Amino acid sequence: MTTTWTAASLLAETAEIGRNEDGSYSRFCLRPEEVALREWFVAKATELGLAIVTDMNANIWVWWGTPGPNAVLTGSHLDSVPGGGAYDGPLGVVSSLVAVAKMQQSGVMPSKPFAVIAMADEEGARFGMPCLGSRLASGKLSKADAHALVARDGQSLPDAWREAGLDPDLIEPDDVLLQAACFIELHVEQGRGLADLGHQVAIATAVRPHGRWRAEFTGQGNHAGTTLIPDRHDPVIPVAQTVLAAREAAEREGCVATVGRINVEPGGTNVIASVATMWLDCRAEESQTVTKVVEGIQQTSQAAADKHGCQVVWTRESWTDRTAFDLCARMLEILGTDTPQLSTGAGHDAATLATTMPTGMLFVRNPTGASHCPAESASDADCDAGVEALQAVLEELVQ
Ligand code: GLV
Ligand code: MN
Ligand code: MN
Ligand code: MN
Repeated sequence: MTTTWTAASLLAETAEIGRNEDGSYSRFCLRPEEVALREWFVAKATELGLAIVTDMNANIWVWWGTPGPNAVLTGSHLDSVPGGGAYDGPLGVVSSLVAVAKMQQSGVMPSKPFAVIAMADEEGARFGMPCLGSRLASGKLSKADAHALVARDGQSLPDAWREAGLDPDLIEPDDVLLQAACFIELHVEQGRGLADLGHQVAIATAVRPHGRWRAEFTGQGNHAGTTLIPDRHDPVIPVAQTVLAAREAAEREGCVATVGRINVEPGGTNVIASVATMWLDCRAEESQTVTKVVEGIQQTSQAAADKHGCQVVWTRESWTDRTAFDLCARMLEILGTDTPQLSTGAGHDAATLATTMPTGMLFVRNPTGASHCPAESASDADCDAGVEALQAVLEELVQ
């Protein structure tokens, strides 16, 4: 059966799992839609004769051969953003499975331990911490800090872990990961780079610096019909001014800043809000630019909050420094020096792991250039080219 596997055929199976009515996916870490995809992954890996290990960081490892140090690791993630596309995450996981199937068929015998990993909450859509599983496994997020995380549905991380049959007290850095030889992640491209170049596959050079901040504005709830404008302490007004400040600062500095999530409480049409919370995502070529832009936005928000008799408290939720991929040159040798090279503004587990081990990424052309939405796509032929490149790289690395 596995002889007929292609990335497209496996993706067609995953596409059925947890699809929303509008064709998007909201597969949040350890929620039923993502758990169903995890089960699918385990079943496929079992067909390949791989040994399944779910670690207490909620990552699933499927081993070809015996687990151990100096391992070659590949994979990606199965969770999605709210309303995400079919490819971000699953393409890397299915391509890894197909590459293993093809290597097995062609008689490759890895001389190093080899595993495909599906990493937990890469998007941070459930627990607010992007690359949660890879941060925990590589020791970049402590057990204590993980225990303090609360899911957007209100469940604490320890409770979510226990509900999924995981012991939150056993969260810890993973020795096998810390001693691994390398990690390779294949991913759908999330912009128009390859479509514009007219190439199917690129090697990633770097992930640009990026972070997430939460700003909580507190005002005073009151009646929408009877409270005169001068008497209001409406926290939504400084939020609106902060959103505009973010856009203007990003345009001025040539970077990107996004407010993609706002929560207004108590959330009544005829109620002036008492609390408004917004999340800021900011990314740039250089980390100093991010710092400058975010500090400017924070100053504007403070002034706007003061003007409207509100308070604002900012918290940085996550940060990823500029990350260059060590295996870029080696991958160029393997795939040919004419392979395009791209840096990206998207975050990835590979960037989290890049300070722990040599790491590389492959991007597969996305004709729409759209991602984190249902329009994200890749043709079957481009997915095949991605698998071919991944297989070529892995075959070299496992020797
Ligand atoms: C995840 O894909 C991110 O870049 O935020
Ligand atoms: Mn993503
Ligand atoms: Mn992704
Ligand atoms: Mn990502």
